[in-house]
Amino acid sequence: MHPDDQVCLCFRVTLRKIRTYLRTEDPPVATLVSECLGAGTGCGWCVPFLKHLHAEHQAGRTPDLKISPQRYAEARTGFHASGERDPDAVRDAGVESDPESPGTDTP
Ligand code: FES
Repeated sequence: MHPDDQVCLCFRVTLRKIRTYLRTEDPPVATLVSECLGAGTGCGWCVPFLKHLHAEHQAGRTPDLKISPQRYAEARTGFHASGERDPDAVRDAGVESDPESPGTDTP
């Protein structure tokens, strides 16, 4: 993803904003990413991706999602229709597993 692409589409929270939040606040747990403009507190689609970004930060890597914003948004539409995340899209984003499927909780 490009830094200006949105990770939380419900609240229009970009990858750049999440990276900045992680860098400046260094939250100890992924649930605190929700303090970044409410990320993850809407439909729940982005929760495993936010957890992944938090884990990347904790590991000292630059948080990123290896998926196009178009595919990411299309997969979210499918999530809304079925209540389940497309495992291929999750994997393609670089997220190893989807611990929240079909999760709707906060990150
Ligand atoms: S896309 Fe983040 S809560 Fe809906």
